[in-house]
Amino acid sequence: MSASLSSLPMSSSSSATGAARPRVAIVGAGVIGLALGWKLAAAGCAVELFDAGAAGMGASHAAAGMLAACAEAEPGEEGLLALTRESQMLWPGFAAELEAASGISVDLRTEGTLTIALTADDGARLRHLFAFQQSLGLPVEWLNPAETRRREPMLTRQIAGAVFSPEDHQVDNRKVATALKIAAARAGAILHEQLPVRRVASTGGRAEGVLAGETLHRADVVVLAAGAWSRGVDITPAAPLPVRPVKGQMLALAMDPAAPLLSHVLWAPGSYLVPRKDGRLIVGATTEEKGFETALTAGGQLALLTNAWRALPGIEELTILEQWAGLRPGSRDDAPILGPSPEVEGLIYATGHHRNGILLLPVTTALISALILRGERASLALPFGAERFAPRPAAE
Ligand code: GLY
Repeated sequence: MSASLSSLPMSSSSSATGAARPRVAIVGAGVIGLALGWKLAAAGCAVELFDAGAAGMGASHAAAGMLAACAEAEPGEEGLLALTRESQMLWPGFAAELEAASGISVDLRTEGTLTIALTADDGARLRHLFAFQQSLGLPVEWLNPAETRRREPMLTRQIAGAVFSPEDHQVDNRKVATALKIAAARAGAILHEQLPVRRVASTGGRAEGVLAGETLHRADVVVLAAGAWSRGVDITPAAPLPVRPVKGQMLALAMDPAAPLLSHVLWAPGSYLVPRKDGRLIVGATTEEKGFETALTAGGQLALLTNAWRALPGIEELTILEQWAGLRPGSRDDAPILGPSPEVEGLIYATGHHRNGILLLPVTTALISALILRGERASLALPFGAERFAPRPAAE
C-alpha cells in the first residue's frame, strides 16, 4: 500500500497563509533537489538540502540541457512520453519564474532540433524513427537535404535527409543549477554541501529525518533526489532503489558567438551538438556502463569528435574548451522513480531520470511539490512509482 501524506506529522513551520507545513530534508542538491527546495521553502516549508559534494555539480552540471521529448522518443518508452511532453510544455513558464526568482538568465533557446541522416542507411533508419514519431502524433517534419542545409548552411553536403522537431528546445543546464541555488537560498532553504547523507532515519516505518555524519537532522518528509548516488543512501526498511550510474563523456568547443556554426540542436549519427548563446558548442555523449568511473578516454572523445566533424566539418578549426564525463541516473526501465516509498511513510523518491533530468525538471518539481504540500498523487505520476519494481508473487 502506498504511504499517505495526509497523515504526516506537521511541524511548527507555517506558510504565508498560516497552514502548517512539513519540515523537509532533501537528499541531493542537483537541479531536482534544488528546485524542490526552492518551491517547498517558498510555500512555507522548513527545508534542508544535503549534497555529498557541491550543489548542482553532478549530472546537472554534466548534462547538455536538451529538452528533446520528440527527438529522443524511443520505441518501448511510449509511457514516458506523457511525462516528457508535459514537462516540455512547462519549461517556458518554469524558466521565466526561475529567472525572476534568481535574477539569472537560463538561456532557453527555441530554435528546435534537427536530427540528420548522412548515408542512405542512416536515412532508412531515420525514416523509420520519423514514422514512429508520427504514429505517436508528435510534431515532427521531414526535411530534404536542400531544406536541411537551408536551415543550417554549415552542415556537410552529404545529407540524406533530416527530421525537424520544432518543439524540442534547449536550456543552459549549468545556469539553471546556479539560478536554482540562488532561488532556493532566497526562499529560505538551508543548503549543506560536502555533507553526505548516510541513512534515512525511520521508526516504525515512518521517516524521521536523515543521518548526515553523526547528526540526525529531523524532518517530517525526506526526499531522495540523489541521482546516480541514490542507491548509496541506506533507506532500510525500504529496498534499495534500482538506480545505476550510466557514464556519458562530453566536450565543449568554442564557436565565434557572432558567427556560430549552428543554431539548432543537432542530432547526428553517433553524437549530438548543442550550440549555446555564448558560443560554446556542447558535443555529447557516450553511453557507458562503467560504474562510478568518470575517466575520459581517447576512444570516447575520438568517437564524439569524429561523428560531430562528419556532420559539421567546420568544427575542425575550433578550440576545445572543456572535456568531461557525467553520470546519468539510470533506473531498471530507464524511467524516473517519482512518488512515495511503498515501505517508509514520509520518504519520497524523485530520482532515476536517466537521460531526461533537465527535460523532466519542471514536471518532477510540480508533481513532487503537489504530493508534499497537498497529498496529491497525480495520475501522470502513477506509472512512475517505486511499486513497479516490487517483486511479483510467483504464478500459481
Ligand atoms: N539526453 C542526452 C544524454 O543523456 O546524453
